[in-house]
Amino acid sequence: MKVFITRIISQSGIQILKNAGIEFVQWTEKRDLPQDELIAICKDYDALISVGQDPINKVFLNASKHLKVIAQMAVGFDNIDVSEATKLKMPIGNTPGVLSSATADTAFLLMLAVSRKAFYLYKKIIKGEWGFYEPTANLGIELHGKTLGIYGLGKIGFELAARCRNAFNMDIIYCNRNPNLLAEQELDATKVSFEDLLAQSDVLSVHTALTAETKGKFNIAAFSKMKMTSIFINTARGAIHNETDLIKALNEKMIWGAGLDVTNPEPMDRDNPLLYMPNVAVLPHIGSATEETRSAMARLAAENIVAASKGERLPHVVNPQVYEK
Ligand code: DGY
Repeated sequence: MKVFITRIISQSGIQILKNAGIEFVQWTEKRDLPQDELIAICKDYDALISVGQDPINKVFLNASKHLKVIAQMAVGFDNIDVSEATKLKMPIGNTPGVLSSATADTAFLLMLAVSRKAFYLYKKIIKGEWGFYEPTANLGIELHGKTLGIYGLGKIGFELAARCRNAFNMDIIYCNRNPNLLAEQELDATKVSFEDLLAQSDVLSVHTALTAETKGKFNIAAFSKMKMTSIFINTARGAIHNETDLIKALNEKMIWGAGLDVTNPEPMDRDNPLLYMPNVAVLPHIGSATEETRSAMARLAAENIVAASKGERLPHVVNPQVYEK
């Protein structure tokens, strides 16, 4: 089997491919591959490890029907038309579980950074604006005993909720289609409606997948129902919030602050007003960016490829329907 990898990935994954005698090529240029180029390249390969947001849509899939597997090196797969791949009987893999902790850390970091205006104040020091001490200036807000609302309480949301409970004794509420019994038992979390999540959260953190239902869910109507003192955090996908509406909500003080690890588009334009607001912290999509996690993600992606090379079921499969008779 010959695999094309759309980025340079950690050695842990490379070693697994080598041990299995699988040939591979990594894309080393520092630019996204346009779809036509990716299609042309894939003609010479049997499998793809997709890293980042490669557009694995209907056009790509139908032009690349020969691929035996696509292993996405991410937990999210909103860039892939999974139902089309399933129709074509093409297994799609992802890397669930291993990035929950690192991503929750990033949400926690953003929550703290926003609550104390840390990024903004750091920039003031750099600009030589650390001046006269004013007891009423640079004030943040405290998190102890506040309410954390999670939109989409799965593994990552659970990890964030546990951190917030342990560090700040925060109350946990969440909005999910199905109840999360573990979170209810271990963290005393309470399932609420979307309306109540908006109305009651002091910090509202998004941990859902990007779907037709969640796209643009956090718009001006949603922000206008949140507390004026609340903080909005998104480490999931940028398209889940409407950026223009978020800027308006912050400018009009509908909410207090925002922390984003994901934006729409990515990369964010350097002139984006969000980057200059005191109560906003933005990171360049680093949720899973630790040595340990990226190494684990590369390992899971490679394991999916090895399984497919042996004609076996992927250990981390997104569309198990492809194995149904
Ligand atoms: C994921 O796994 O979906 C992350 O966003 C990639 O860093």
